[in-house]
Amino acid sequence: MVDASARSKIDELRARIHHHNYRYHALDAPEISDAEFDALFQELRVLEERHPDLVTPDSPTQRVGASPVTGFEEAIHPTPMLSLANAFDEAQFTAWYRRALDLAEGEPFDIVCELKFDGLAVALTYKDGVLVRGATRGNGSVGEDVTPNLRTIRSIPLRLLKDVPGRFEVRGEALFPKSRFDRFNQRRAEAGLPTYANPRNTAAGSVRQLDPRITAERHLDIFIYSLGYSDAPTPSAHWDTLQYLAKLGFKTNRHNRLVRRPEEALRYYLDWRDKFEELDYGCDGVVVKVNSFDLQRHMGDVGREPRWAIAYKFPATRAETRLKDILVNVGRTGSINPYAVLEPVDVGGATVSQATLHNEDYVRSKDLRVGDWVIVERAGEVIPQIVSVIEDRRAGDERPFAMPTECQSCGQPLNRREDEAMTYCVNAACPAQLVRLLEHFVSRGAMDIEGLGVRQAATLLDRGLIHDVADLYSLEDKREELVGIDRMGEKSVSNLLAAIAKSRERPLARVLTALGIDHVGFEVAELLARHFRAIDAIIAASQDDLTAVASIGPKIAESVSAYFANESNRAVVQKLRAAGVRMEDEDRPEPAQQPLAGLRFVVTGRLTQFSRAQIESKIKDAGGAVSGSVSKRANYLVAGEDAGSKLTDAQELGVQVIDEDEILYMLERGPREPQDATAPTLL
Ligand code: IVH
Repeated sequence: MVDASARSKIDELRARIHHHNYRYHALDAPEISDAEFDALFQELRVLEERHPDLVTPDSPTQRVGASPVTGFEEAIHPTPMLSLANAFDEAQFTAWYRRALDLAEGEPFDIVCELKFDGLAVALTYKDGVLVRGATRGNGSVGEDVTPNLRTIRSIPLRLLKDVPGRFEVRGEALFPKSRFDRFNQRRAEAGLPTYANPRNTAAGSVRQLDPRITAERHLDIFIYSLGYSDAPTPSAHWDTLQYLAKLGFKTNRHNRLVRRPEEALRYYLDWRDKFEELDYGCDGVVVKVNSFDLQRHMGDVGREPRWAIAYKFPATRAETRLKDILVNVGRTGSINPYAVLEPVDVGGATVSQATLHNEDYVRSKDLRVGDWVIVERAGEVIPQIVSVIEDRRAGDERPFAMPTECQSCGQPLNRREDEAMTYCVNAACPAQLVRLLEHFVSRGAMDIEGLGVRQAATLLDRGLIHDVADLYSLEDKREELVGIDRMGEKSVSNLLAAIAKSRERPLARVLTALGIDHVGFEVAELLARHFRAIDAIIAASQDDLTAVASIGPKIAESVSAYFANESNRAVVQKLRAAGVRMEDEDRPEPAQQPLAGLRFVVTGRLTQFSRAQIESKIKDAGGAVSGSVSKRANYLVAGEDAGSKLTDAQELGVQVIDEDEILYMLERGPREPQDATAPTLL
């Protein structure tokens, strides 16, 4: 191939790859399958290998540089990277707004609401549309040049999608998405490497890696939240700038909003305060910005903080406290779980006095010692965690933790299997395990028996009124003995007995969940129940029969088989059956009756309430099928914003196009009945 045609082919491939890269990483709305993308990429790579002189730094093949650097150069910011003033409550937020309104001479102004990302600030510089520098914020005036590392972030365009002459700089926050961070840590744990404390610090560490190949493996992400500098003309307000940046190929955040009134900004804050933990990235507040750049300039800065913006922070979810002790409890499977006893501390409005420590290795990897000062974190409903030790506050008399060698409940020696991090009490009759199992058995997703707390369960076991979960159903005969236990009166005993009696009717999936089989939570139990429909069929199933069920892997199959291979477990099942607990499902809907059974969907564009991946998995859960591209076989195209070429394909092929609200409706109730007279009637 002559160079001229090679060059044009290479240019064409690069443009297509940049475009699809943007669809995938910035918009989360790919137009082609991964395999098609890989094929384009491979084609480019082959051509570039044949014509090494045509390789340029903005080529998509050049994201990950091969060689480590020895240190970072200084990067001077053309305009300083400012910080933000904080508001911690509504009064402070309102005070900020009043002051801004004063500065605007009482004239109400448009406001842009954004999330405040908890990662690290970076600046990206382009020259004639090509990425030439990526830098950390540093002290705001001078940062570090970390270009090779930032180039590995796939949501950062190496070349802009439109021509922008001269120098152009944007700013944003680099992040380690929570799900990727968890996977990354899990892989490290499996490889016996120490795990990292949190996504924020790990993102910062990754961006400052000397070897970009390490940064590349971590799959960081970025949101661009402002323009830093531009030689070329740009929009005159922040909101329009954000749209403009998105058109150039930058990943902006889909939750940005333009509002007119401070009450709306407050609503935005309150909405996100309640749900920010559902995001897949760190977020610790919202940022509220004056939209007009003229007005921003007019308002100016105080020190390094602009008057035209404020960060309204969510209540802290972290705090420092003292680790008073490390104790262990016994789980329902006999696992011995260390936990931290903490000096009670307020974390984001809730008092925390305990934190889980998982297992012996976890305590060791964090080097926790009794008496340490530690940072604790609470995220939503999740059990509080210890993030790290504050080593500087060590006095020297802190005590390392030693795992007990005997079960504190039954006195039997404890056992740590070689290939596992967990230590177990293997005594099946251990009372502590039974208390946990009872607690699980009566819990909401299981038999849902209200009125039996851990304390009462322990007392019932202590007094010999029950010996296993099935004995709950014979408590009816021991009514008199129950009254008075843990201050239970006649009324609460009656309520408890009624709740126990009612639980006999729970569907098979709940019963399976309640048994407490390792790896069998409600979702897996549902799959098993739907497939086998009766507990006897599950007991009789081989591991092969079990793995034949969609989504059931060998680990679950092994655990189910092992559970039912155990004679005392089978005896409990028999006892439950004899007590009248339902052991089969008759009236469950066949898979064919699932709301979306037999229908094929394609999802495209930006959705507002769920990510594409979430909607796709909901569709599959409801019995539907999902394809990556539109064809005649598809029944529906679910189209979000900026739906692009799939929308045109669907219209051409006559595939019905629906929006997000409609698919949410259909997930519950299936497709709407056809209304028109041409609809076939089934007689
Ligand atoms: S705007 C003057 N927008 O917060 C404007 N910053 O305290 C300053 N940050 O270093 C930046 N999310 O790393 C802006 N949506 C957002 C942000 C955001 C997070 C960080 C940024 C900055 C720090 C300022």
